[in-house]
Amino acid sequence: MIHRRNTLAAALVAGALCLAAAGAHAQSKIKVGLMLPYTGTYAALGTAIENGFRLYVQEQGGKLGGREIEYFRVDDESDPSKAVDNMNKLVKRDNVDVVVGTVHSGVAMAMAKVARDTNTLLVVPNAGAGAVTGAMCAPNIFRSSFSNWQPGYAMGKVAGEKGAKKVVTITWKYAAGDESVEGFREGLKSAGGEVVKELTLPFPNVEFQALLTEIAAAKPDAVYAFFAGGGAVKFVKDYAAAGLNKTIPLYGPGFLTDGTLEAQGAAAQGMLTTLHYADGLDVPKDKAFRAEYLKAYKTAPDVYAVQGYDAAQMLGAGLAAVKGDIAKRPELIAAMEKEKIDSPRGAFTLSKAHNPIQDIYLRKVVGTENRFEGVAVKALADPARGCKM
Ligand code: PHB
Repeated sequence: MIHRRNTLAAALVAGALCLAAAGAHAQSKIKVGLMLPYTGTYAALGTAIENGFRLYVQEQGGKLGGREIEYFRVDDESDPSKAVDNMNKLVKRDNVDVVVGTVHSGVAMAMAKVARDTNTLLVVPNAGAGAVTGAMCAPNIFRSSFSNWQPGYAMGKVAGEKGAKKVVTITWKYAAGDESVEGFREGLKSAGGEVVKELTLPFPNVEFQALLTEIAAAKPDAVYAFFAGGGAVKFVKDYAAAGLNKTIPLYGPGFLTDGTLEAQGAAAQGMLTTLHYADGLDVPKDKAFRAEYLKAYKTAPDVYAVQGYDAAQMLGAGLAAVKGDIAKRPELIAAMEKEKIDSPRGAFTLSKAHNPIQDIYLRKVVGTENRFEGVAVKALADPARGCKM
């Protein structure tokens, strides 16, 4: 009798524990790892991405798919040599459900490798490395931003159409610079121009003087430059200080002037760039987004903030479809793949390789705005070379 009563009590306790565990699971938080640069030349970009991501989550009441979000942050310093260790801090130590990162292409490629090896869900909110949605493409890897090829190709087309026959390129020597120039060369060639000289310096070096002297001597029709963040600020100012902006148009992907105009001031006025975002878009979602962002952070959003916001939207679409049960991976991925993202840049869909198919805008610097001038290339898809998926 005593024995039977004990068994019954044990069963009741076990049942109660079970219920408690199920309840705890339903309420447990989704762990989001943010691996971004919080120091160095790309620091401002990392912050804008995080701000954008958090803004979307806040707009959903702090939850995605009905589950609260808990953040784990790692400063990747835009240093590829530390990337695997940093990624493992999030994946192995913190046991996150998903990683959102990063800005720098070299770091992102290392992250993609770890994500593939560990089957970790990864959303890339900036880095344009072709391999991430090319040779390394995978069901668990998504990008909310662009491929380096996309804005480069569009700028090449525009520069060629504006009559640039001979162009000198200048960039940091790493994947993003190389691929941006490659896209530019392809677009320029399609419009009758050619790249006659490629200048580079190591990332994140900003000693531009010797290279500016070379540009002055080469007298090209135009210059195409890939720099971003702090490096972009200095390059555009140095280019103007050397007087080159008076005689040789300086073109670039929009990173050259996005989030940088307050600091670049007069040096950037009139510059033309191409990007998947612009100031003055006639997009209702953008108007709402800009108002909310300004209210939350007391500063205007840039392309990086948009990409962070959209990374959260993409994840949110997946989590909503599985009601927060992130373990339902195939259903989550299928929902992310088919979602039309209502982005401030204008709605976009994903390619089979999980990269945005999007309009690339031509923008002109007026004051502190990258003012929308027109669509340079409509619904541009990255060629996703090497992706087998
Ligand atoms: C990159 O490394 O892919 C990268 C970095 C900064 C940008 C754009 C691309 O603004």
